[in-house]
Parts: sequence; structure tokens; C-alpha cells
Amino acid sequence: MSTNEGTTGQDVIDVLTTDHREFEELVQQITASVDPAQRRESADQLIGELVRHAVAEEMYVYPAIREHLPNGEEAVEHDTQEHKQLETLMKQLEAVDAQDPRFMELLGELHQVLADHVRDEEGQQFPQLRAHIPADELVRIKDKVETAKKLAPTRPHPSAPNAELFHKLVGPGVGLVDRLRDKLTSRSN
Ligand SMILES: [Fe+2]
Ligand SMILES: [Fe+2]
Repeated sequence: MSTNEGTTGQDVIDVLTTDHREFEELVQQITASVDPAQRRESADQLIGELVRHAVAEEMYVYPAIREHLPNGEEAVEHDTQEHKQLETLMKQLEAVDAQDPRFMELLGELHQVLADHVRDEEGQQFPQLRAHIPADELVRIKDKVETAKKLAPTRPHPSAPNAELFHKLVGPGVGLVDRLRDKLTSRSN
């Protein structure tokens, strides 16, 4: 990490990797909770964070993978398919009552696909991006990713988790995934 440039010393790989850890924490939080309202809120936050992350990757990171990695085309195809699977599961999860036994089943399925996907990215694509793309370019991509995510924040400040602003912007519940994706892609074009 010491070779990275930029004011925060972070590049796009650092930011996306931090997101991955946050997803894991949210899954653990939901699993540990016995309160349906809390489960719902954390699941909506997970969905919100994950959609933002996936859209930002598709807009700025997957094109870089395609351009710079020897097997880029294939890797992007594979990763995009997994994003679609994640999206299908998120749509099911947003629509199911937190008290329904199906809720935890769906969370388990989502967690499994997500864990596989994260392993691929962190084990293969991310190290390859660092090997093939200059450090300052990875910092530029990070700035784009962060700007894209700010268009649909899931919380006002990283150190103050709060779903309120997010709910004000896109609202919780059914249609969350689509509404958030639309917001992210239309505003950024
Ligand atoms: Fe991804
Ligand atoms: Fe990712």
C-alpha cells in the first residue's frame, strides 16, 4: 500500500476491498440479530451498498480489466454474470419479509455467491490490475468510483452509519435494487 499515490494513499483496489469487508460485517450483523426490524434495516443497507459497489465496478473497474488484463474479456464476462446472480438474489431478499424463514435462506445464498465473487476479485483480478496498471491510474479510477458512489449515498458519513439519507433518496423495500441502479447509472452518464 505504501507505493500508492493520492491524498489518502489509497487506490481503487483498497476502496473496493474495504467495501468487501463491510459486506461481510453486514452479513454477520444480520445473522447475529434476532430482531426482524433490525434484520430488515441491515439487509437494506447491505443491498444498497452492494448495488453501489457493483455499479461502480461495472462502470469503471471492469472496463480497466477488459483493457489491461490478458484474459480481461473472459474475466469481465464471468464477473458480470455473478453480479447478475447477486442482483437476482438481492431482488428476492428485498421482497421477502424478515420474519419469513426464506429471508435467512436467501441471505445464505447471497452470502455464498458474494464470497465466491470476492475471492475471485481479490485473488485474481485485483492483484492483476495492480500488476498491469500504473499506480496513479488506479488512484484516478478510485476517484471516479467514489464520485459515482456519492450520487446515491447509503449513509451521510462513513463513520456514522445511518440509513436515513439513503431511504430519503431511494426508499427501502421492493424495487430498491432497480431504483438504486437507475439512479446511479442515469446520473453518471
Ligand atoms: Fe464485482
Ligand atoms: Fe467487488
